[in-house]
Amino acid sequence: MKLRTGTLLAPLAVLVLTALPLSGCSGASAPSASASATLTFSLADVAKHNTKDDCWAAVDGGVYDLTSWISLHPGGPDKIVPLCGTDATTAFRNQHDSQSKPNDQLAQFRVGDLA
Ligand code: HEM
Repeated sequence: MKLRTGTLLAPLAVLVLTALPLSGCSGASAPSASASATLTFSLADVAKHNTKDDCWAAVDGGVYDLTSWISLHPGGPDKIVPLCGTDATTAFRNQHDSQSKPNDQLAQFRVGDLA
């Protein structure tokens, strides 16, 4: 009896598990499509975000919103604030070059590409 229930339930479980991602697909398609579109900003766009409360910077062709990172930076907020609204490539590379932690951290703030 147990065996028969198992053999009946197994294909049912497969059906349910296959149907779940499919049913979720229609709702998820719109956000994933927009997430794949890369936004592009000019340096003039970046320059508009030049305060500690709204701080964007460009590094190596990427544009980053550093606002939330200013008070958390282990090297101090005073190192980040002057970068707001600028191309900070030289400052960032001079200090952190290819160190993995700063580069990983930076990647999390990416909002788009520099035009
Ligand atoms: C612009 C984006 C930046 C990001 C995302 C960033 C990120 C980080 C991270 C993740 C650390 C910790 C590293 C670790 O624990 O191994 C760190 C430390 C540090 N950063 Fe930055 N950094 C940035 C810019 C700068 C700049 C421009 C300077 C200097 C002009 C600077 C100076 C420092 C210093 C001195 C430390 C070491 C603090 C300590 O260990 O006491 N950072 N940064």
